[in-house]
Amino acid sequence: MSRYAHIQDELRSHPATWLITGVAGFIGSNLLETLLRLNQRVIGLDNFLTGHQKNLDMVQELTGESLWRNFTFIEGDIRDPETCRQACSGVQHVLHEAALGSVPRSLNDPLLTNSCNITGFLNMLTAAKDAGVASFVYAASSSTYGDSQTLPKVEEHIGNPLSPYAVTKYVDELYADVFGRCYGFKSIGLRYFNVFGQRQDPEGAYAAVIPQWFAALFHNKTVFINGDGETSRDFCYIDNVVQANILASLASEEARNTVYNVAFGERTTLNDLFCLVRDEVCRFQPEAATAKPSYRDFRPGDVRHSLANITKANTLLGYAPQYNIREGMRLAGDWYHKHIA
Ligand SMILES: NC(=O)c1ccc[n+]([C@@H]2O[C@H](COP(=O)([O-])OP(=O)(O)OC[C@H]3O[C@@H](n4cnc5c(N)ncnc54)[C@H](O)[C@@H]3O)[C@@H](O)[C@H]2O)c1
Repeated sequence: MSRYAHIQDELRSHPATWLITGVAGFIGSNLLETLLRLNQRVIGLDNFLTGHQKNLDMVQELTGESLWRNFTFIEGDIRDPETCRQACSGVQHVLHEAALGSVPRSLNDPLLTNSCNITGFLNMLTAAKDAGVASFVYAASSSTYGDSQTLPKVEEHIGNPLSPYAVTKYVDELYADVFGRCYGFKSIGLRYFNVFGQRQDPEGAYAAVIPQWFAALFHNKTVFINGDGETSRDFCYIDNVVQANILASLASEEARNTVYNVAFGERTTLNDLFCLVRDEVCRFQPEAATAKPSYRDFRPGDVRHSLANITKANTLLGYAPQYNIREGMRLAGDWYHKHIA
């Protein structure tokens, strides 16, 4: 039996109380769905800055009324220390996802990104420490590798940040590390690499590439590729990320106070990604087969290549991603067809 299967059994027989910040967002709402299905009690905190009530409604519909009664929602802002304190009260496990994503957004409004991603983070870390929670797992980011040319990325070797967003995610790691050493409060940072899957927002100027392209192809619009299309990423299906969060929350003492890459461990170029998305759309709209991308300038702040070494998460957390990009794309394609086509 895998460590993940074992932990899921344990949780089902001994339900705990969890706090998910950013619960109305993409990753937060997927964590919520899994935890409710595992019969856990969940408190969710969100201010709907980029998250949506419809994500919560969807989880309610998918999990059913009886499990939904185990969920309490707090509409509030992590930039307010008191809100964070109240949200952490009586909680065993914190999954801190709330932050402002997107490199371009951070270039356009570094102050807002800083306040949510650093001040908000520090508020949550402090509140969780003071509440004496059993675990604190937070969303870190592969952007922390910055201009490092090394591939695959290993946790110990990072470069200089290439955007305000990357700075904020790195500062979070520094704070988390200092809290471990100064207060004995040992958290875990999960450096996500380009996560995708159901409920990732296709709308708005800062939408991630996969939902943006699904929306464009389903609606017969142009797909834009920034640069020559040979930029590559380690795309990671959402269920792998959920697995990593649950494993990290129940990790051994020795596995804490550090960061882990969370990815699949394979690199896909944007040109190949375009073909994968188009294949999925063609299942429903065969006429998309002739769609071609339109190339435009490289985007400032973007790293050229990204690929994770996931050995550390595998060895210390028992992380074993269950979905490769093709399998994830199939599920994402079904979902986008149902919800946005
Ligand atoms: N999606 C990815 O590929 C990816 C990659 C690396 C890291 N991350 C990190 O994972 C986390 C979740 O990302 P996501 O893709 O689900 O984004 P998302 O925008 O869908 O979710 C973030 C949620 O946080 C909420 N939020 C933002 N600021 C808040 C505040 N001040 N107070 C309360 N709530 C606030 C938003 O309303 C939203 O619901 C973020 O920390 C992000 O930086 C994501």
